[in-house]
Amino acid sequence: MQLKYTIFGESHGPGIGVVIENLPSGIPVDMDFILSEMRRRQAKKGGLSTSRIEGDIPEIISGVFEGRTTGTPLCAMIRNENTRSGDYTRTKDLARPSHADYTGKVRYGGFNDYRGGGHFSGRLTAPMVFAGAVAKLWLKEKGIRVGGHVLQIGDVRDEPFDLTNPQPEQFDTIAARTLPTISEEAGEKMQAVIQQARMDLTSVGGIIQIAVTGMPVGIGSPDRESLEGIIARNVFAVPAVKGLEFGLGFGFGSAYGHEVNDAMRMEGDKVVTTTNYNGGILGGISNGMPIVFQAAVKPTPSISREQQTVNMATGENAPLTIQGRHDPCILSRATVVLEAATALSVMEALLDA
Ligand SMILES: Cc1cc2nc3c(=O)[nH]c(=O)nc-3n(C[C@H](O)[C@H](O)[C@H](O)COP(=O)(O)O)c2cc1C
Repeated sequence: MQLKYTIFGESHGPGIGVVIENLPSGIPVDMDFILSEMRRRQAKKGGLSTSRIEGDIPEIISGVFEGRTTGTPLCAMIRNENTRSGDYTRTKDLARPSHADYTGKVRYGGFNDYRGGGHFSGRLTAPMVFAGAVAKLWLKEKGIRVGGHVLQIGDVRDEPFDLTNPQPEQFDTIAARTLPTISEEAGEKMQAVIQQARMDLTSVGGIIQIAVTGMPVGIGSPDRESLEGIIARNVFAVPAVKGLEFGLGFGFGSAYGHEVNDAMRMEGDKVVTTTNYNGGILGGISNGMPIVFQAAVKPTPSISREQQTVNMATGENAPLTIQGRHDPCILSRATVVLEAATALSVMEALLDA
């Protein structure tokens, strides 16, 4: 049976959460680890992100007994604490450019909770981090680790992961940083870019790189259940992700076969490749090399500068100036979310194998 998760709630409702179905029983639910993952997604102080900072303490309603998963649906809920819905009533009919206000209103016939983006808020990624942390605990028992870093913000670039050998120890060092980068110097430059964007009343986008180590060979399928497809489905469930490439990705578009074919060789009794331009997946199936991909995250839609939009109630063009609390850059918080989406994808593929 396929691993499934359903995220529920709205940004300014009583709470948000997740129901995970078809989890294996017996996973140790290490709350210290789960809470440390939740903290990584929380808003950062010092103007780096939104000033809406919440406790994000998940309350487990079902599916865990004496510290381990039971195998029946696991429901976890996080109460919303710091809501200021008044910020939104003034502009409720003005669709924020690049946000889901317009599409959400049409899709749900105007019955959607628009406050703070409702179900489309980045806040809904907190339950995904919870679910991803449970998946990571299961994967860890199998020697599989998932880590990520901010590869780029604006035009500042971090060092990339070593495609053939990303180090799981490095994941912990990166995760402990305010801005999760490999190079501290790149991280400082990125912070300056974010501060500048905030002062310019705008926001800035970037790229997150994710790696999975310890991946066994032969997981995934060709066609629609390809490992790339499963990862894509979960990664695109993360709001603001607009691009995805595996390994060399779009770099293949200007390459020649002799430059980028991953040469194969034996290492003891194991088949390895000398390079990993394919990002650990061939034919939709893992080849035993680390899985590595990059996801492009767009600049936060809500910016303080005046923008042009439409009034959805009157059908007129209208200027919009957004108030409320918004990240000038989502990437430092989105890294752990993309790790979670990846952990859930790898777990799903392994359970289907
Ligand atoms: C962690 C996280 C935090 C976010 N915070 C905000 C925010 O404060 N303001 C905002 O306008 N969008 C924010 N977003 C992005 C929007 O939710 C997203 O752009 C919107 O739902 C439209 O979806 P799309 O960009 O995937 O098309 C956030 C996204 C993530 C992953």
